[in-house]
Amino acid sequence: MSKKEVGDIIKRLGNERDELLHVLQEIQKKNNYISEKDIIEISKQMDIPAAEIYGVVTFYSFFKLNKAAKYTVYICDGTACHVRGSTKLIDEVKKKLGNIEAGEITEDGLFSYQFVRCLGLCASAPLIKINEDIHPKLKRGDCSKIIDEYIAKENRTKSKKPSKNGGAN
Ligand code: FES
Repeated sequence: MSKKEVGDIIKRLGNERDELLHVLQEIQKKNNYISEKDIIEISKQMDIPAAEIYGVVTFYSFFKLNKAAKYTVYICDGTACHVRGSTKLIDEVKKKLGNIEAGEITEDGLFSYQFVRCLGLCASAPLIKINEDIHPKLKRGDCSKIIDEYIAKENRTKSKKPSKNGGAN
């Protein structure tokens, strides 16, 4: 996040010490993580030692220090899922996400994917999990549709956001 963006958030929420958590939450919400640069900038602009801010960020599991996608697609490639066609799901998810490799993040920061051994739901194989949501018994084409639903949800959320500052963003 740029200096100005951090500054705008602090200006809006106030630079009182009590607002630190809100400032961090706002940055996390916008960027999906809080960078070292953000911490230094907050430290300067709110006059709070960087070590103290770092302590707050690491205390709450909600905050992430590394860039993370908003949605992680866990593709089960355990035996039951593999036998029932997880390879096709892998190809489909990869293609849908612009041919990124496992662990990489899509340009819009929304998705990444990774493989898991067994999600313990073999009777529903093959399946994927997106964050905490299980999507069972998938057939060809289902993964694309499911990912489209998440994209549509994101677009709806964006268009619903109130624009107090004249719709900036
Ligand atoms: S192998 Fe996929 S849930 Fe068990």
